[in-house]
Amino acid sequence: MIRALNSIYNQCIYVKKPQDIRDLLLYSKFWCDWIHEHHDEEEKLLFPAIERITKVDGIMEKNVAQHEAFMPGLEEFQRYAETTKPELYDGQQLRDIIDKFGSKLTVHLTEEIETLLGLESYDGPVLKEAYIKFDLELRKVKDA
Ligand SMILES: [Fe+2]
Repeated sequence: MIRALNSIYNQCIYVKKPQDIRDLLLYSKFWCDWIHEHHDEEEKLLFPAIERITKVDGIMEKNVAQHEAFMPGLEEFQRYAETTKPELYDGQQLRDIIDKFGSKLTVHLTEEIETLLGLESYDGPVLKEAYIKFDLELRKVKDA
């Protein structure tokens, strides 16, 4: 996720041809859809399952708060990607939007690993089962 965002951040100021701009904006939109879906499903499916299995209320609360912290910036990025006409595209503007939420997202993605590793004292096989269910849900082909 971070690498894909980096690729957008690094290339966005160099694209000049209308077709390249359209492609970059579409790639950005796909990236936003991916992040949205991932975090929505975590909150709907995975985090409640982790709470149930560990029997610790709010064990994933910090992660949910971090989702909320980067969400406004992500939404601004998504709006820009979906509505900008190639002739009005400004790579620096796109970069400025990423600057507003990129570091919050990176902190979140980095710290979530620690949270997940912290679950090792709970029922591993049952947690793994919940994770597989979550992963299979994400892999389903969905209507656009
Ligand atoms: Fe997350």
